[in-house]
Amino acid sequence: MIPCQRHLFDIPDDIAYFNCAYMSPLMHKVVAAGREAVALKAQPWQISPPDFFTTPERARTLFGQLIHAQADDIAIIPSCSYGTATAAQNIPVAKGQTMVVLQDQFPSNVYPWRELATDRGAEIVTIPRSMPRGGNDGWTPRILNAIDQNTALVALPHCHWTDGGLIDLVAVGQRCRENGAALVLDITQSIGALPFDVEAIQPDFAIAAGYKWMMGPYTLGFLYVAPKYQNGRPLEHNWIARKDSENFAGLVDYKSEFQPGARRFDMGESANFTAMPMAVTALEQLLEWGVENIQETLAAMTATIAERAAPLGLWASAPSLRADHFLGLGFPGDVPDGLPERLGANNVYVSVRGQSMRVTPHLFNNEADIDRLINVLSDVL
Ligand SMILES: Cc1ncc(COP(=O)(O)O)c(C=O)c1O
Repeated sequence: MIPCQRHLFDIPDDIAYFNCAYMSPLMHKVVAAGREAVALKAQPWQISPPDFFTTPERARTLFGQLIHAQADDIAIIPSCSYGTATAAQNIPVAKGQTMVVLQDQFPSNVYPWRELATDRGAEIVTIPRSMPRGGNDGWTPRILNAIDQNTALVALPHCHWTDGGLIDLVAVGQRCRENGAALVLDITQSIGALPFDVEAIQPDFAIAAGYKWMMGPYTLGFLYVAPKYQNGRPLEHNWIARKDSENFAGLVDYKSEFQPGARRFDMGESANFTAMPMAVTALEQLLEWGVENIQETLAAMTATIAERAAPLGLWASAPSLRADHFLGLGFPGDVPDGLPERLGANNVYVSVRGQSMRVTPHLFNNEADIDRLINVLSDVL
């Protein structure tokens, strides 16, 4: 268990922030790295050509450590949608094949598949929730049932973004391989808080926006690309992703070859001088804490919250069916109108998605925050 890390963050004592699923706060040292990076751009003579590569390479290595992959397998992307669009451009889908998604899945992991289905004459198979008011009795068996020889791809999260409903990705990965289906994962709502191992899961693509559980800046994320797709077609063509781009004087000696591995899929301006040092600083801290330790600490916190919310009539899925870090609380009826705003007026921050109130803590939360959450909830409900 990791002791409370609030001192590393800029969170006043009377703020109870339980909204990492929306956006994590930045640590002091991540803000400092950003400030330093902005100041550097005020004096561009201090930015030299190797700087276009060294910090991004460090970020690739650190993100690789988080998911048990090599730096070579990682591309730098601005958003989850960029990652899913890259995957959609590279996975073969034939007329009449199917693509599997979940009901109420995050839109950046649905729209590209809808477009692809229209373009190719394929069909989207949406796995419904098993309970009308949110919650579920386990997604995994129903996902496994939906995958067959006609499945072109399966596009999933590790846990559902509305209520934390957990998916056994090792089992899904195996079923995909048995049926020749590609596996595309949006791990934005889990990476950094839930262990993830590409060697065990063997996804084709895994995509993470960095501003939630990776505690990084907005507009910087990472894309894992399995080796078999690393000769694929990038969304755009930029100079940095091409072979020998380190040699600025030779850039107009145009190259048809790319930088090695997944780097061909990097977004333009991947050097991202302001955001990249921030992401690196945040990733270093996550790895120092250790994802398993973060998970264990947040599991205890969400279990306490679920237990204390139960007498107020709020229910949660069984712990084995939800991700440890991500609590979705359900209401006996509809979610009361304006609930997040009413809680916010009392310095309690959560979010509502669908029929679920997401309570998503991190290491900065303490017992006083939980007391405030429960007290304010009992007042407004
Ligand atoms: C599951 C999930 N994926 C991705 C994102 C962010 O998507 P994008 O980077 O395309 O804006 C979010 C944001 O809420 C999310 O909840």
